[in-house]
Amino acid sequence: MEGKQECLVFAVNGERFEVPNVDPTTTLLQFLRSHTRFKSVKLGCGDGGCGACVVLLSKYDPVLDQVEDYTVSSCLTLLCSVNGCSVTTTEGLGNSKDGFHPIHQRLAGFHASQCGFCTPGICMSIYSALISAERTPHPEPLPGFSRLTVSEAEKAIAGNLCRCTGYRPIADACKSFAADVDIEDLGINSFWRKGDAKEVKVSRLPSYNPEDHICTYPEFLKDEHRSVMHLNSISCSWYSPASIEELENLLQSSVAENCTRIKVVVGNTGNGYYNEILQYDKYVDLRYIPELSVVRRDNSGIEFGATVSISKVIFSLNEETTVNLCPGGELIFKKVADHMEKIASGFIRNSASIGGNLVMAQRNYFPSDIATLLLALSSSVSILTRCKREKITLEQFFSRPPLDPRSVLLSVHIPYWEPIESAGTNESNHRLMFETYRAAPRPIGNALPYLNAAFLAKISYHKNGVLVNNIQLAFGAYGAKHSIRARKVEEHLTGKIFSLAILDEAIKIVKDSVIPDDGTSFAAYRSSLAVGYLFAFLFNLAGPDYDISGVSFDELNGNLLDNTLDSKNDNDIIQIVIPTLLSSAKQVVESSREYYPVGEPMIKFGAAIQASGEAVYVDDIPSPPNCLHGAFIYSTKPLARVKGISFKSNSLPKGVTAVISFKDIPKGGENVGSKTNPVFEPLFADDLTRYAGDRIAFVLAETQKSADVAAKLAVVDYDTESLDPPILIVEEAVERSSFIEVPSYLHPAKVGNFLKGMAEADHSILSAKIELGSQYYFYMETQTALAIPDEDNCMVVYSSIQCPEFAHSVIARCLGIPEHNVRVITRRVGGGFGGKASKASPVATACALAAHCLRRPVRMYLDRKTDMIMAGGRHPMKITYSVGFKSNGKITALHLDILINAGQTIDASIIMPRNMVGALKKYDWGALSFDIKLCKTNHCGKTAMRAPGEVQASFIAESILENVASVLSLDVDSVRTKNLHTYESLKLFYGSATGDSIEYTLPTIWDKVAKSSIFAQRIAMIKHFNSCNRWRKRGISRAPIVYEATVRPTPGKVSILGDGSIVVEVGGIELGQGLWTKVKQVTAYALSKIQCDGTEDLVEKVRIVQSDTLSLVQGGITAGSTTSESSCEAARLCCNFLVERLAPLKKKLQEQMGSVTWDVLILQAHNHSVNLAANSYYVPEPSSRGYLNYGAAVSEVELNVLTGETTILRADIVYDCGQSLNPAVDLGQIEGSFIQGVGFFMLEEYLTNADGLVVTDNTWTYKIPTIDTIPKQFNVEVVNSGHHQKRVLSSKASGEPPLLLAVSVHCATRAAIKEARKQRKSWGASDETNSIFQLEVPATMPAVKQLCGLDTVEWYLQSLLTR
Ligand SMILES: Cc1cc2nc3c(=O)[nH]c(=O)nc-3n(C[C@H](O)[C@H](O)[C@H](O)COP(=O)(O)OP(=O)(O)OC[C@H]3O[C@@H](n4cnc5c(N)ncnc54)[C@H](O)[C@@H]3O)c2cc1C
Ligand code: FES
Ligand code: FES
Repeated sequence: MEGKQECLVFAVNGERFEVPNVDPTTTLLQFLRSHTRFKSVKLGCGDGGCGACVVLLSKYDPVLDQVEDYTVSSCLTLLCSVNGCSVTTTEGLGNSKDGFHPIHQRLAGFHASQCGFCTPGICMSIYSALISAERTPHPEPLPGFSRLTVSEAEKAIAGNLCRCTGYRPIADACKSFAADVDIEDLGINSFWRKGDAKEVKVSRLPSYNPEDHICTYPEFLKDEHRSVMHLNSISCSWYSPASIEELENLLQSSVAENCTRIKVVVGNTGNGYYNEILQYDKYVDLRYIPELSVVRRDNSGIEFGATVSISKVIFSLNEETTVNLCPGGELIFKKVADHMEKIASGFIRNSASIGGNLVMAQRNYFPSDIATLLLALSSSVSILTRCKREKITLEQFFSRPPLDPRSVLLSVHIPYWEPIESAGTNESNHRLMFETYRAAPRPIGNALPYLNAAFLAKISYHKNGVLVNNIQLAFGAYGAKHSIRARKVEEHLTGKIFSLAILDEAIKIVKDSVIPDDGTSFAAYRSSLAVGYLFAFLFNLAGPDYDISGVSFDELNGNLLDNTLDSKNDNDIIQIVIPTLLSSAKQVVESSREYYPVGEPMIKFGAAIQASGEAVYVDDIPSPPNCLHGAFIYSTKPLARVKGISFKSNSLPKGVTAVISFKDIPKGGENVGSKTNPVFEPLFADDLTRYAGDRIAFVLAETQKSADVAAKLAVVDYDTESLDPPILIVEEAVERSSFIEVPSYLHPAKVGNFLKGMAEADHSILSAKIELGSQYYFYMETQTALAIPDEDNCMVVYSSIQCPEFAHSVIARCLGIPEHNVRVITRRVGGGFGGKASKASPVATACALAAHCLRRPVRMYLDRKTDMIMAGGRHPMKITYSVGFKSNGKITALHLDILINAGQTIDASIIMPRNMVGALKKYDWGALSFDIKLCKTNHCGKTAMRAPGEVQASFIAESILENVASVLSLDVDSVRTKNLHTYESLKLFYGSATGDSIEYTLPTIWDKVAKSSIFAQRIAMIKHFNSCNRWRKRGISRAPIVYEATVRPTPGKVSILGDGSIVVEVGGIELGQGLWTKVKQVTAYALSKIQCDGTEDLVEKVRIVQSDTLSLVQGGITAGSTTSESSCEAARLCCNFLVERLAPLKKKLQEQMGSVTWDVLILQAHNHSVNLAANSYYVPEPSSRGYLNYGAAVSEVELNVLTGETTILRADIVYDCGQSLNPAVDLGQIEGSFIQGVGFFMLEEYLTNADGLVVTDNTWTYKIPTIDTIPKQFNVEVVNSGHHQKRVLSSKASGEPPLLLAVSVHCATRAAIKEARKQRKSWGASDETNSIFQLEVPATMPAVKQLCGLDTVEWYLQSLLTR
């Protein structure tokens, strides 16, 4: 083969790498993380769905002497395919030593990095957008800005997931580079102060000069590239043919070589979906064949070579529209390009090929968008099958058997379409109509559609109406093997003059044509989408847009359109509209200088190094020599005997060293993996698995990849004979009395007398039911640990955990060694949300056990699927309630029976009743009683996910009030207001946590949020909107929260070093919530009490260091929102001791010298042997242990009645943070928490199969919010409610309570649905319980559409036909 290059050569951040031998399935991410020092690329999913691994790839064209730069997901890009390329990671942009890049600085300064695990990927997405913008013809920007536009800036991060921030600050950091940004629109930051002039603001932004671009493609690589750079390496099994002939030879030779398994590769993004672990004998990279990478145009249309990336297809289609002005450009190609922009995300589209997409659709039944789009346009493909080239239509291609591995798709041809044809008669004018549709959980991409469609029609206008000359209707992704043409509908419509009856019949036929295969989820919903989209298209077809001379719209459509509503308006809203992203946001914070620097909105400690990739997470710690990697083998059965484990290959897979299980627990040790005081839970299932996802064994291998593959290949032999059936539902648990006991001190107290309250009621609702599902944490960093055996039977474990102290004692007990032999170290955690409390412990313990048994370091980084299967998540529950109320809406009594599915282990479940009741009590129920049972089932143990129990209870409370309001036909907001507590009733419900009456700020907040959100006016506007719009409905809702926070004991240690710098250790763990930053500020404040010169900048001298369980004992658990404040208090106590010790010396020095600086004081203190290290253990006074947090939110949504899509138009939050320790950090917590709540209420379905095994176990099936699903207007006000004597420096918590406020979005959606149902009823749909209905959580598109009516269109048509 020509141009043979045996060695792989590429550059990373300007450094040359030459790799002679590599496993061809090695990804760029695996190589970077294990063979280079560039650890900024993070593994968030491995599916292409999160963006944590994004890097910039640069390619050089020696002929044109041009470099092309674009982002790719390094988790899917194969290393061999970067031969000759240059890779830039965020380390390549800048660092703490040589200077940060303005992207790093701005992300830090806009408070856009919390845990920081997503931040390096986000930096690269922004960087790529900046360099692409420089190549656009956009006007020259002002100095300091780029050519980027605001909307491009936001779209740049559309594929990047962030679980912490809620995206608003990230969007601000991106937009700060945009030429068209209004600087006043940018949110809170550390660069300028409120009120600064515009010019001052601009000058304070870290300077950005587009000319300063770093060199993405080094010169030395250019020189090498001038000779051939086609990798054809036998040792790598990688081939890059440079022509079709070479390709044919290669394919033929492998036919000759019997049984050679061959795989054609382009972008390898398909593997994100299929996660193939099969190894092939030969990999053939098609991208070096020029014929396959060109875009050709002729008179008939445009042809794309199969390897052309989707991004380039989009670019070319747009070019057809704007530059080449091809026939149908604006009408067709622009729309196809816009639709394609919703495929995956930019960093996937840049490497994903059009050919790869179609082959996946043809061969593997992938739910492709491209297939549907091109089918509607009568496209064709060229294929090469056994040396024979064929050109066939796309429809023929899909009707053939799956393409065999040695056949190649060469190109795709899309014909041109003339938009308008004049038939030359007075009678008719032909017109082309084209539209595409896509219903997906995320509007601008990164989510597969429930259904997609593309419709093309040729119509003409006649005296007696609109004639359909020809129509092509393609539907796809709805659960059939391939995209289809709805031929019967087409036949029905072709040649007909449009009428209602024709439309009605078309709708009936389409329902019989678009039928998902058996087993497809939401089958009826998907079919209803087909109906909705066809209706929308046909409605438009006959719509008012066309002003054909002499023929009026009314004449054309007289009997189709209903003239009672503004038909133009109606017509507009059923058009597909690309939703805008975050359009505006406002943050109001009140900082106080009383405890300076406490109260300052300081940048989060470590934010810049998180952005530059220098921050070290557990998996970034370099592997010690001889290190092994582990992966769990887990059960897929809920309750079964494990007879044995084998591997498909019958021997240990390649690279595997050992498999350990409960049988390997050392003598004296115990099979324990986690602990919930005082109960220890098993590490491994013994002979019996207890739930699907239970750990059975631990595979150890030389690399993480080998361990993961081996765990996947493991075959577990189960036996269920003579075992009782597992308990999988709560009712079964009740029947079999399978409960977890709640200790009496955690029993919540009832309030008042329920029977008496019921007797006082005018009305009642009895035994109403609510059901709630689970939620997954989706921390970006999955569970991980590294265990290193030390001398004398000791073990050091680095763990990403929220409670190192617990893991410490579990490890000691498991290994049978004293606790002083164990040390658990945690520096930073890439997001926790409660998921890295108990559930991180088995990961650390398994590593420690293996390291102990094998006397080798052992580490593990869980793959996302295993993590999702083992996580447990939020508690699902079933609720039955009875409520009594007066005619004016005042509740008199409430009783609830709650069955909580706690899973198999105790974990944090015992706090659930108390937490739930704490949040339920936000309203004055008159009397409140309950029976809450923790059902022990054969599910993975549930844990304390952010606001555990509280978020469910908040929802239950709102649901009850919604129900009451519906029964009484009252406005629900007035019912809410009526049932808000007075100070007296608050005291009755919350007892000592209530505090003084002045601290009860909810009534003020309630009014404040109404005012700031112009609630009353918007209610009127929404009413008007709903009366004018048939297919879009809006709803608005206001919701309050009262959240009972509990402060726990926490240790601290502050030491002052010889140079005056200060080092602090606290019990709390930095999870991204800004705990370290607050501790830093409080330490500086408390030490400044010494009152000597130079203490103003003391905060710069403070460093918080990692938690180390031997250095600081009794660290406890970081949870419940209050660990930041208790850690601050612990540090403050230490500082008080130090100030006390230093004071006499300071006095003496001052007398001698007149004034003393901090540095001199400390130097002298060392000389005078003052003890400069202080320890504390902060134990809150009983009266300070509990307190109440208050907040309220107003949210407005708009829903699409045809699809069930809900858009959050606006959210306004007012939250009482006491006297915030750091308003920027608290604001970040409020926004991030609210958006995580939006995920729970609107998007995230954490589902299991019948055995309880989690099935939504990747980014394809589990959808957390993205930048396009957050409120379009997002306003937050952090209220400073002044002095709270019993709080830490008057502050209050912010981590969890705001999550509950997202219930307002759900309630607003319910309000909008109510409107849709009212309208449906007016069309004749009989529905007795029209206004009383339960909207599921999450309110996904199918759930919303179901309630709006899957048959709404049919009822509408019926109403017109029968008029
Ligand atoms: C996160 C993510 C989200 C996505 N979302 C969407 C979406 O919303 N809508 C949508 O339509 N698509 C979506 N895709 C699919 C994406 O478009 C395809 O993965 C991509 O186009 C495949 O191209 P590739 O070059 O990476 O193919 P590869 O992964 O390299 O190959 C895919 C398969 O096709 C074979 N193959 C590739 N090219 C040829 C050829 N020319 N001839 C013969 N066989 C070939 C390969 O052997 C392999 O089996 C998504 C993908 C990802 C990763
Ligand atoms: S890790 Fe690559 S996209 Fe998630
Ligand atoms: S900061 Fe984005 S995931 Fe934590």
